[in-house]
Amino acid sequence: MYTYVVRAVRADEWVSVKELRLLALRDPVAPIAFLETYEVAAARPDSFWQERAAGAAEGTDGVRQFVAEAEDGQWAGTVTVLVEEAGTVDWAGFPVERRQGHVVGVYVRDEWRASGLTRALLDAAVDWSWELGLGRVRLIVHEKNLRAQGAYRKAGFIPSGRTVPMGQGTAENEYEFVLERPEASDR
Ligand SMILES: CC(C)(COP(=O)(O)OP(=O)(O)OC[C@H]1O[C@@H](n2cnc3c(N)ncnc32)[C@H](O)[C@@H]1OP(=O)(O)O)[C@@H](O)C(=O)NCCC(=O)NCCS
Repeated sequence: MYTYVVRAVRADEWVSVKELRLLALRDPVAPIAFLETYEVAAARPDSFWQERAAGAAEGTDGVRQFVAEAEDGQWAGTVTVLVEEAGTVDWAGFPVERRQGHVVGVYVRDEWRASGLTRALLDAAVDWSWELGLGRVRLIVHEKNLRAQGAYRKAGFIPSGRTVPMGQGTAENEYEFVLERPEASDR
């Protein structure tokens, strides 16, 4: 197995950002893992991917995309953190009570699963959130995505008890998982 480094994307890496996202959207679990379809993403113009990479790169505020880059240069996986401001309302209509991180777009290539790489990506996302002084980090995971739930639990996330209905005519739910910022003395 090759080794890898976890780092933030660079603003000019939009082609790689697009390629990895399209690969993720072709994963068999994509319908329960991501809100976007492959067809919608594939039809987006280059400007969309250019803006996405630039907006999530090192040095920007509010969004940070991390990738695990293997020794051969291939991107093995990714996570993105969105900063949610207190006093706003989230996409599901719930109030955001504290400034917090929201982890989205979690994807690891098949050959890198169960290798520890997912944990390294999640740790990078969490560390960045604590560096920003965020009070907690959360994510939303489908009730049937048991593998993802297992990976999140291993990284310290636990269900908050909040359930988000999928809507769109299904009775399926998603769960909110959270990781509270440790007290300074625990870190
Ligand atoms: C989700 C994803 C990033 C997790 O990464 P991973 O490397 O596969 O995760 P890990 O193997 O480190 O951890 C998964 C854990 O869940 C466990 N698990 C797997 N399938 C399970 C199941 N059906 N029920 C319960 N636990 C399960 C694994 O055994 C493992 O725990 P262990 O290490 O204690 O054995 C990766 O599988 C992926 O990219 N999936 C497709 C996209 C996706 O679902 N993204 C998440 C959207 S919320």
